[in-house]
Amino acid sequence: MIPLISVVGTGRVGSSIAFLCVSNALDDVLLVNRTKDKALGESLDISSAIPSNSKFSIRGTDDYSELVGSDVVVITASVGVYTKDRSENMDIQVKMIKNIAEKIKQYCPSAIVLIISNPLDVLTYYFQKSSGFSRFKVIGIASSLDTSRFRYCISETLDVPQSSVQNALVLGEHGDSMVPIFSGVSVGGNPLFSMIDSRDTISENVRNYWKTLRNFKSRSQFGIAKNTFDVIESILNKKEIEIPASIVLEGEYGEYNVSMGVPVKIDQNGVSQIREINLDDDELSLLKKSSEKIRSDIKLVSH
Ligand SMILES: NC(=O)c1ccc[n+]([C@@H]2O[C@H](COP(=O)([O-])OP(=O)(O)OC[C@H]3O[C@@H](n4cnc5c(N)ncnc54)[C@H](OP(=O)(O)O)[C@@H]3O)[C@@H](O)[C@H]2O)c1
Repeated sequence: MIPLISVVGTGRVGSSIAFLCVSNALDDVLLVNRTKDKALGESLDISSAIPSNSKFSIRGTDDYSELVGSDVVVITASVGVYTKDRSENMDIQVKMIKNIAEKIKQYCPSAIVLIISNPLDVLTYYFQKSSGFSRFKVIGIASSLDTSRFRYCISETLDVPQSSVQNALVLGEHGDSMVPIFSGVSVGGNPLFSMIDSRDTISENVRNYWKTLRNFKSRSQFGIAKNTFDVIESILNKKEIEIPASIVLEGEYGEYNVSMGVPVKIDQNGVSQIREINLDDDELSLLKKSSEKIRSDIKLVSH
């Protein structure tokens, strides 16, 4: 079997992504985990979800050399659980991503790489810089999850179905400085601004969504799994999607030396376009603050 989708780090998030790929018969899946037994256990469990008419399979390993042939590699590896801020384990996560980048460069240099591990934007930046991969092939997936959460928070505030909330978008850091973009949002065809007094409560609820969730469940897994699955599907099925995602910027939005969530189009070759959309003055200034926060985190671990 030549694996086409490889998932590095098969904890909660990695195994949930693998489950969606396998149960939707998307392609063969390889699980790579530091502790081999975990990869073996998850692959045995997920194998039972292979549809009877699927020609694809799943297997687990701790051996990176088995990545050879991967078209898409998803990185969900993590060496610690943060409790207050996603940047908490930054030093150790950056070391980890640099090691993984070396292996991916060695075994599947043509793969499109989706970064899921936190701190998301910093790791996307360091993966791209250490691998030397085209920036269009290293994509941090998180702002689409934050956008799903933004839509949820609007629908809860206004007591309307989530489906009536259109053109919601979250840009910038996958962290406390993320920027929910209100200016384009419509609800049931009407501008959101005509329905709310202040952006602040909704913004805080979006930023703190993960903390609220952790009051009830140890960590999130399904939302990011579905958002990541959608991207893998668009790559493998050659079906363009447009989402906000983190990518190293070289002048877009006036930014350099940083990776952050911006609207992108993704197809079978990775990011095909970075869209520069109109934002109001408040949003532009918040986005600038967000990029500065990520850039200062990048500098903190650059020694
Ligand atoms: N982007 C987003 O929106 C989003 C959303 C949710 C979560 N996340 C992030 O996703 C990551 C995973 O979360 P999780 O809840 O799935 O964590 P988890 O359950 O702790 O799983 C992490 C897995 O990574 C493995 N691992 C550690 N270092 C490795 C390496 N060098 N190579 C291969 N595998 C390695 C661990 O193996 P062991 O079994 O040996 O410990 C563990 O199985 C975290 O960084 C989390 O913050 C991101």
